Amino acid sequence: MNTTLSRRSFLRQSFAFSALAGLGSLPSLAKVHSKGDNAHHWFMVGDWGAENPTAQKSVADAMAAYVREHSLKPDALLMLGDNWYGDLPGGVDDTRWKTQFEDMYPKSVFDCTAYAIPGNHDYQRMPLTVSKLDAELAYAKRGNTRWTMPSRWYSFEFPQHKPLATVIALDSNVYHPMHEGEKVNFTLTPEDQAEQLNWLKAELAKPRTTPYLIVMAHHPVYSNGPHGDHKTLIAEWDPLLREHKAHLYLAGHDHDMQHLEFENHPTSFSLSGGGGADLYTLKIEEDKRGPYAAKVHGFSHLQIAEDKLTMLHLDETGRIIHGFTKTPAGEMKILS
Ligand SMILES: [Fe+2]
Repeated sequence: MNTTLSRRSFLRQSFAFSALAGLGSLPSLAKVHSKGDNAHHWFMVGDWGAENPTAQKSVADAMAAYVREHSLKPDALLMLGDNWYGDLPGGVDDTRWKTQFEDMYPKSVFDCTAYAIPGNHDYQRMPLTVSKLDAELAYAKRGNTRWTMPSRWYSFEFPQHKPLATVIALDSNVYHPMHEGEKVNFTLTPEDQAEQLNWLKAELAKPRTTPYLIVMAHHPVYSNGPHGDHKTLIAEWDPLLREHKAHLYLAGHDHDMQHLEFENHPTSFSLSGGGGADLYTLKIEEDKRGPYAAKVHGFSHLQIAEDKLTMLHLDETGRIIHGFTKTPAGEMKILS
């Protein structure tokens, strides 16, 4: 049984709270790694490809303004799934690729690889003649784009030279039987699911030479949002996160921003699902299980350095709303 900790108890316990108080408010912390200490900067959005892109544009503009304001050089974008809501009638040729990806997160600001993973909406055929997932895989294969999805699940080391992080990108659309009358099952097949799990175990069994292990997938293992905790991922993946001491599990799916910690669990669960789709009301408030959960549009900024990871959640105005650090040894501190 997991023991959960509230934000208040974290703040009471956290050395960082007093140690960082002298540094000023959270916004000043964004610059901690931008002063020439060779940190790498990742930016992530989940649940972003909304049919009405109003909120998506606000978040994307805030992310670009934040990058410019702090003179950051983004090293990666993470597109955390539910990349396309609604119809993608042109498939790989649809105009939404330009308006809602290439131009929305412009290369002039984000001149970096955009690592993408499939969400549940990406498995839909909309219209029925078009597999959005096939379009995403095909778009990556075309080249001349930052969009990167070599397969439904994949791994990479980052950066290429002297890598600091081993990253495992997973397809969390695990199998559930079709409802009666449905012609298409919008998930992995049981065979694919088993194949991915075997691949994941094999990847994790390789000797890791990097200080950080980061796992990313669309569905959260644990969530305070309406989708809740995921029984299958808890059964199949969570023991592996524990065994291999994953530092971060990055997800979306619930349309909010979260950071959950569990006592004696080595993994910090960071959820960034506020990229553009309509927001969800939380099922569990952060004072019951946390340290952080908020119904807000936004994005996340992960700074990767040799001494620590720094994760910041920001809202659609570019305001830092939550942050924490994690060392290679697994020590987590809340920033406040
Ligand atoms: Fe989703």
